[in-house]
Amino acid sequence: MPETVEIFEMAPRDGLQNEKRMIPTAQKIALVDWLSKAGFRRIEVASFVSPKWVPQMADSGDVLAGICRAPGVRYAALTPNLKGYEAARAARADEVAIFASASEGFSRANLNCSITESLERFAPVIEAAKVDNMPVRGYVSVVTDCPYDGAIAPEAVARVVAALRDLGCYEVSLGDTIGQGRPETISAMLEAVLNELPPERLAGHYHDTAGRALENIEASLALGLRVFDAAVGGLGGCPYAPGAAGNVATEKVAARLAELGYDTGLNMAVLQEAATLARSMKGGQDG
Ligand code: HMG
Ligand code: MG
Repeated sequence: MPETVEIFEMAPRDGLQNEKRMIPTAQKIALVDWLSKAGFRRIEVASFVSPKWVPQMADSGDVLAGICRAPGVRYAALTPNLKGYEAARAARADEVAIFASASEGFSRANLNCSITESLERFAPVIEAAKVDNMPVRGYVSVVTDCPYDGAIAPEAVARVVAALRDLGCYEVSLGDTIGQGRPETISAMLEAVLNELPPERLAGHYHDTAGRALENIEASLALGLRVFDAAVGGLGGCPYAPGAAGNVATEKVAARLAELGYDTGLNMAVLQEAATLARSMKGGQDG
């Protein structure tokens, strides 16, 4: 039996959040509905952040209300604070994610507060989620390189991973937000992080700006990680990370994993359809 690797699909959230053209809600719903047929177990579809900060995600509640939920799929949403959590719960998200940064510069740009303040804001989210039995995932951004603070020390990432673990996140996803990680820097970061959390509670979230995400995934596989975030069509980028290109494309990751002998459980034909749809939503008139 081949070993399983899970891809956590990101296109409807990380993929679309950076698009300047407002994408109609119906198109977002159509994308999620295609993805629901592909065999994913988790799809991030929404983000309950301030609409002043990320206008593209302002219709997240309508997206969650409009999708056809497939059995066995968990539909996830980002929640930066209690207000976001309450909106996600009202919209019937199946799980939520809190997101911190390994650098002070990125924390300030993305969340308008320090790392410590962000963790303080996450505490009530986790408490409410525990009462609701809602799984909470954690992200750490800029795990190797930051557009504001430069190279990131692996220990700085490990500290934030430990804080998210202590808060109660079931899994922590490690974001190479600007896609500048290399197998050497990713491995060094993971060596430090693995002192805090075992590989089965970690995920790799690698953007593909420098075209090295697949190599970074292979380096992570060698250290035991078996969950990777990706977006069909290679969509994405973070509005607060200048120069960040898309997430690594799901169809590329699935193909490489198959070559390496891993089973993702994904239907490649459906993935290609979803990738075509996703690419048609990207860029629009204003590129
Ligand atoms: P702030 O301006 O410091 O917050 O933003 P505030 O508390 O002063 O609120 C300002 C306004 O936003 C108020 O409205 C609040 O009610 C409202 P006003 O009174 O002015 O009309 N507000 C909200 N509205 C809706 N939902 C909410 C919410 N919270 C406050 N949840 C804040 C602080 C955290 C809200 C803001 O900085 C924010 O929304 N940041 C999110 C940025 C973001 O979404 N970035 C992209 C996602 S992270 C990512 O992509 C990285 C990842 O992919 C991993 C990787 O690649 O590294 C996950
Ligand atoms: Mg990202």
